[in-house]
Parts: sequence; C-alpha cells; structure tokens
Amino acid sequence: MFALTIPNKIEQNNPMKAAERPHPLFLTIQDDLERLETILEEAIQTAEVPMVRDVAHHIVFSGGKRLRPALSILTHRICGGSDERAIHLAAAIELIHTASLIHDDVLDSAELRRGVVSANAKWGNHLSVLVGDFCLSLANEILASHTTRSVIACLTDAAKKTTEGEALEIIQSSDLKMDFDTYINIVTKKTAYLIAATCEAGSILANAPTRLTAALRQYGLSLGIAFQIVDDILDYTTKGNGFGKRRGTDLKEGKLTLPIIYALAKVSSEEREIIAESLLTPHYSEKDLESVTTILEKYQSIDESKEVARGYIDKAMSSLDPFKQSLEKEALIHFALFVGNREI
Ligand code: FPP
Ligand code: MG
Repeated sequence: MFALTIPNKIEQNNPMKAAERPHPLFLTIQDDLERLETILEEAIQTAEVPMVRDVAHHIVFSGGKRLRPALSILTHRICGGSDERAIHLAAAIELIHTASLIHDDVLDSAELRRGVVSANAKWGNHLSVLVGDFCLSLANEILASHTTRSVIACLTDAAKKTTEGEALEIIQSSDLKMDFDTYINIVTKKTAYLIAATCEAGSILANAPTRLTAALRQYGLSLGIAFQIVDDILDYTTKGNGFGKRRGTDLKEGKLTLPIIYALAKVSSEEREIIAESLLTPHYSEKDLESVTTILEKYQSIDESKEVARGYIDKAMSSLDPFKQSLEKEALIHFALFVGNREI
C-alpha cells in the first residue's frame, strides 16, 4: 500500500528496509530519527574504554527497528509538542531498551539478536552485562540533562517493572501449571510497561493534560502486550532469518508462552509428556521443536494466541479515541496494525 524509499543515514545504519517500517509518517519524523542516530552515536562515543564502545556500538547499531523512539516522538507530536528534548528522550528510551536486551540475551544464552551475533556470544557474559549497565547509565545521563522529573519517574518505574517481569519469568519458568493471567502479568511487566512509559513520557514532555497522557499510556500498554504475544508466536512460526533470532528459543529455555499454555489445556497425557520433556530437559533437539510445533498446530494454539493479540491491538487503537483525526493518530493506528501483523 505504501511505496517507500528512504535512502538516508538511518538506512545505512539500520538494515530494516524503509518499506518494512510501520507507516509513511516515519517520513515526517525522519529528521528526528536521523538526529536520534547522532545522539546515540555521540552518547556511545563518551565511553573511555574502547571495548565498551565497540560492544555498545555493536548492539545499538545492529538494526533495531527504533519502534520505541518513533512512538515517543509520535506521542509527543500528537499532543502538540515539537520540543527538541523529545529526541533526547527517544534516545534514552532506546538505550534502556538496548540495556534490557543485552541482559536478556545473557539470561537466555541467545546466539543471535536482530540477525547478527549477540553481544554475549561475541564478547562473553561478563562484558555484556557491564555494557548493558553502561547503556542504562547513558540513558540516565540523557534523561537527567534533557527531560523532567516526571519523565524520569515514569521511565524509572518502567525499568523497575521490566526487571521484575524478567525475574518473574525466570521464577515461573518450566512451571507447567502456569496460567493465562500469570503469563499476561509477566509480559505486561517485562515488555509492555516500558512501551506504555514511552508513550506517556512523550506526552508528558508536551505538557499534555492527564486525560491524554493516560490514554497514550493505555495505548502503549495494550500495544506492548500484543507485541510480546506476537513475539512469542513468532518464536514458533518464524521462517527464514527475518525474525533475527533462532526459532524455538523459548522452548529451549523452558519458557512457557501463550501457545504452550493454550495447548497444555487440551493435550493428551502423551502430548503433555512431549511438551514437558522439551521444556524441562537440557537435551533439547530440533526434533523436539518439530513435535511441539505439530501439537501447537493440532490444537490451533497459535491461532488462539493470535486472537488474543488482536484483542489487545483493538484495545490499543480504541485508546486513541480521545484524539481528533491527525497524521500522528493515523500513524499510531498503523503502528498498532503493524505490530499485529509483523513477521519480523
Ligand atoms: C525480551 O524478552 C526481554 C525483555 C522484554 C526484557 C528484558 C529485561 C531484563 C533483562 C531486565 C533488565 C532491565 C533493564 C531495564 C536493564 P524475550 O526473551 O521473550 O524476547 P526476545 O525473543 O527478544 O529475546
Ligand atoms: Mg530473549
């Protein structure tokens, strides 16, 4: 529908093709996104230890979709803001997100991130953890210099919840009795709160009334939950290299996600045994992944999970009702649709 070619600096840094981005409104925030890349680069260059700089550069410029920065800029604009500080805010949010991914890849022993070798696989866990801390510190530095107390409070709260969500996921891992509500609680904390805070912070910086900051927070919360559900579905369904991660990582790590929770409610005792073996044993193989995928297909657990994601996408879009029609609103709606349909 939208034929886009944006050959620019972002394109060189970011392998994601322009046409894969959510909406042509990226064109109207293109200058801001280019400035974002410069701010990120300058922040990383403040590292005095070359290896820290290299690792941080590797992960920050490894082709992230910059979804959170785009959201913070769009939510700033939809509230009438045009403040340069919003781009610094966007950079800080991308750095918090990056820190969480570096740490997550250590916890998951991931080999790939965004289709390239993960920091932990290339430099080891020790350096990766520290560079994650470094990125978080850069984010704090930017927030302290360029934003307000309430923006900092909003993002700090989100970072706390993200960490707790990840902890909860580890505590619950391999618990075959895990239910839908516990799963939603985990994804809300580990993924959605940061996206909610991203949307809220953009609007706070525009001095929007509470009615609108709350609406955008709700938009981000529902979008974030949908995003993680789709991510968890893609972990089983992805084909080729587009997803940038290995298929079946969740199963290998003993993570119970929505498709598995739905399947476990219906399976035979033999099938339950196959799932349990694959989740709990260290000798996980490609054959295990195929057997589990066959069970997920048999019980339509993927379709059921997609339905839940769609419900959250609808909820996200309805949260925008208080806003009058505008290019930004249109972009946020397309953004939600992109998250619902994404294959990468
Ligand atoms: C990806 O989950 C990971 C997260 C959404 C959050 C990770 C958070 C931490 C490691 C806590 C540290 C937090 C901060 C703020 C530094 P996933 O493994 O399901 O997704 P993936 O497939 O992208 O790896
Ligand atoms: Mg992970």
